[in-house]
Amino acid sequence: MNKTQRVPMKALVLSGGKGSRLRPITHTSAKQLIPIANKPILFYGLEAIARAGIREVGIIVGDTAAEIRAAVGDGSAFGFKATYIPQEAPLGLAHAVKISKEFMGESPFLMFLGDNLLKGELSPLVEDFLQTKPNSQILVAQVPNPSSFGVVELKDGKVSRLVEKPKEPKSDLALVGVYLFDKNIFTAIDHIQPSARGELEITDAIQWLVDQKFTVVCKRTQGWWKDTGKLADLLEANRLIHETLEPSIHKDAHVDAGSRLEGRVTLEAGAIIESSIIRGPAVIGARSRIIHSYVGPYSSIYYDTLIENSEIEHSIVLEHAKIRDIKRIQDSLIGQRVELLRSGAKPQAYRIMVGDSSRIEIP
Ligand code: DAU
Repeated sequence: MNKTQRVPMKALVLSGGKGSRLRPITHTSAKQLIPIANKPILFYGLEAIARAGIREVGIIVGDTAAEIRAAVGDGSAFGFKATYIPQEAPLGLAHAVKISKEFMGESPFLMFLGDNLLKGELSPLVEDFLQTKPNSQILVAQVPNPSSFGVVELKDGKVSRLVEKPKEPKSDLALVGVYLFDKNIFTAIDHIQPSARGELEITDAIQWLVDQKFTVVCKRTQGWWKDTGKLADLLEANRLIHETLEPSIHKDAHVDAGSRLEGRVTLEAGAIIESSIIRGPAVIGARSRIIHSYVGPYSSIYYDTLIENSEIEHSIVLEHAKIRDIKRIQDSLIGQRVELLRSGAKPQAYRIMVGDSSRIEIP
């Protein structure tokens, strides 16, 4: 239970949406629950919200509601009260805010996008907002590819324009998925129309606040920030989180005499390492078995997996996956219950059963 002092603010965490860029993983499960170093992405944000002293959290859920509810529960494990707000379809970030009006009441709130990962705390942002009381506070980061994000233009240090994923961005400041609002955002949303992609955009609502001379303050991120919507960003977030981990070997993990652990390695309860090298930073999940294999830096191996006679590095492997006799896997995301095996069957050929929108690269 978190002991931080309670702040007079609620939070809205967006865990609906489609996750179309991470198919096929997101055909069957929530993108916000993909584990990074064996902890769901969403949990990093929820823990930071609790540390900032927020005790009431509204969670927007869509098709994957059951899975999110099962993972987060009533919020008590994090130190807050979770209230689920179902969204009929991913109709936009501003739509998610609109349907949370009753939950928010008169309270100011922090909105957090459930697939975003940030280094650093939310508490300084919350404290600044509560002290200076602007109508909205946004967070930006300098990025090399602004057209993938909401882009903020500043004039004399003040927010002048916000454009959602512009083809020709006029600035390299991307909107980070952490926003603070007072109740005026609901009025703003009542004044906007769906965008060309059919969504009620939060950027348009904030633009309305700017145009109506409400106070919109812009802060810059301290430390790194990742939107984990794409595989490359997910793997990069995994790498960055691994850099912060301390090694830990559970007392019920087993490493045989023929194995070697190098660098920062975490073994969870019941992990079994036989005749293998684990070179950290790496995390091996509960009851996973690594046999006659090499697991290299920046690998997150989730629970109940088997890796045998194989080499893997800079990858995320989800629960119950089996990898056997595969020479080397790198920069990969392997889904739940996937089996990657070598077969001696004749004729020698690739025999594949993969889901829709999968991607396989073969040397
Ligand atoms: O990551 C920062 C970017 O997030 C900002 O720079 C953009 O301005 C903002 O529009 C948003 O862009 P994305 O295209 O990355 O948003 P995405 O559709 O991935 O949704 C972000 C999170 O919100 C994700 O966890 C899914 C959830 N969501 C999304 C929509 C559209 C909902 O819960 N409901 C929705 O209707």
